Amino acid sequence: MNGNITFSMIKPTATQNNHTGHIINMITNAGFHVIAIKMLHLSKDQAKAFYGVHEGKEFFERLIDFMSSGPIVAMVLKKENAVEDYRKLMGATDPAKAAEGTIRKLYATSMTMNAVHGSDSDENASLESRFFFSDFEVFKQL
Ligand code: TYD
Repeated sequence: MNGNITFSMIKPTATQNNHTGHIINMITNAGFHVIAIKMLHLSKDQAKAFYGVHEGKEFFERLIDFMSSGPIVAMVLKKENAVEDYRKLMGATDPAKAAEGTIRKLYATSMTMNAVHGSDSDENASLESRFFFSDFEVFKQL
């Protein structure tokens, strides 16, 4: 059975270009409930810890520099089948391949600067939510 929670981030550039409101609108219009939210600026060490699975890959340093270059908005989203449905709304990692109407098609400017993050499994949704939020900051009843 699929879980009903996913973790999402609005990445730097999208926040700096004032797209936060529209992206959250797209998310709630698609039926997700925002059950936790905060805005913060990741340090390089925090970005490395979050994206540790990609350490050693060709794009890792570029990704870390980007993710620590400006504010991000972290959110926990609730909806039936949340992980899969949010990845559909987000669109492909490479904006050139992202479907029409997806967040990345609208707001990603490159493969690295791709506007949003979304968990790729229920297990990662839980781990990533806990990376940013403590239990009392997540409103599961919403
Ligand atoms: P990944 O987990 O593969 O993609 P997604 O965010 O769609 O789950 O990669 C994590 C992030 O790393 C991705 O959002 C952007 C960056 N990235 C690059 O900059 N270059 C690349 O070639 C890849 C695969 C990812």
